[in-house]
Amino acid sequence: MLFYTEKSTKLFKLNEIELLMERTLVLIKPDGVKRSICGEIISRFEKVGLKIVGIKMIQPSKEFAEKHYHDVEERHGRKVLEGLSEYMGMGPVIAMVLEGASAIKQVRKMVGKTEPLTSEPGTIRGDYTHLSYARADDPNSAVKALYNIIHASANEQDSEHEINLWFSDSELWEYKLLHEDFF
Ligand code: PPS
Repeated sequence: MLFYTEKSTKLFKLNEIELLMERTLVLIKPDGVKRSICGEIISRFEKVGLKIVGIKMIQPSKEFAEKHYHDVEERHGRKVLEGLSEYMGMGPVIAMVLEGASAIKQVRKMVGKTEPLTSEPGTIRGDYTHLSYARADDPNSAVKALYNIIHASANEQDSEHEINLWFSDSELWEYKLLHEDFF
């Protein structure tokens, strides 16, 4: 369906706009929570216009973390999965579902590369962390996992799996942001 907004000559394709709307899972991991930077992180997402449609604090068990990282053993090995599961159980995490146009890609761009050492300044990991894979994987290091403060769904398939794992339907909300009424 094609339509013009009131007093505007710009043509919108309604179906395409709806298709671009996505939901993605974001976790502020135990190190992010313990560093008291949750507000700063959430604020970045709000400022780009992403909508929080679900949010809670939860301490995941090792079993739950392994369900979340269901393909990590296959891709990175048992040791990485065990380190990650232990890391996720080190304290409570903030879990949220963000909604917006191309939200999965947008959030991953803001989060930055998985390895903090190589994530760009301006990204969340680039601005708040510095750890390398080498140090995370060094058996002589005090660091037992890749502490990178945040997780974000990598693609549509992961976001579906992760949102269903962390949130029930009744914990997800539908509402309009102020700017949506003027869109
Ligand atoms: S991603 O972001 O899912 O695309 O990253 P990916 O490279 O696939 O890694 C999946 C998660 O495994 C963690 N990881 C590691 N931890 C410790 N050492 C090594 N070498 C390592 N490689 C990957 C990585 O932090 C990912 O978890 P998240 O929560 O996504 O950061």
